Amino acid sequence: MEEVHGFRYWDGRSILGFVDGTENPHGEKQRAYFGLIGDSDPAYKNGSYLFVQKYLHDLKAFNALSLPEQEAVFGRHKASDIEMPDEVKPKNSHSAVANVGDDFKIIRDNMPFGNIGNNEMGTYFIAYASTFSTVKKMLDKMFIGEPEGNYDRLLDFSTAKTGYLFFVPTLDMLDDFSN
Ligand code: HEM
Repeated sequence: MEEVHGFRYWDGRSILGFVDGTENPHGEKQRAYFGLIGDSDPAYKNGSYLFVQKYLHDLKAFNALSLPEQEAVFGRHKASDIEMPDEVKPKNSHSAVANVGDDFKIIRDNMPFGNIGNNEMGTYFIAYASTFSTVKKMLDKMFIGEPEGNYDRLLDFSTAKTGYLFFVPTLDMLDDFSN
């Protein structure tokens, strides 16, 4: 059993200091479209696939980077959270790699955590999706790269320690299970 205490940080920033969640789908309709199972799977409609991963960050190495180097890791500016234009944004930056197109989005709800006792600082990656294949597409681009080798620069400072996929039922489904 493991217990990880996350916290909300200034502007919704990750523990690396960058605002996390900006490009999430906004508005109830968009969030339901990308976050909940739709008509293609009627038996499980309105349920959701929840994927979580515990990432540890090498904060020492990340904080040793200059500000422009840190910004190149994410492809966004740190203070303003403004995205770099495509001509400037590095191809291996997290926002370039994790973007798999406007039709494939997920709802991210990451939590930073830090434990001085065991010196574990990280991000609890938490995402809801209408289908796991979208998350898989993102993970493949991050870890393998497209083209292969263009892996996510964020992974030079982040190590995934766990990865779990859950199914989140609706309240009606839970009622049915108990009958
Ligand atoms: C290692 C832990 C991670 C951290 C600290 C992190 C942090 C961030 C930050 C700061 C952004 C830019 C702002 C935003 O749009 O939210 C971002 C964007 C994004 N991240 Fe992550 N992320 C992590 C892991 C992941 C993973 C594992 C995935 C997918 C499986 C993912 C998917 C995305 C997507 C889709 C975007 C938006 C890209 C765009 O369209 O611009 N992230 N993340």
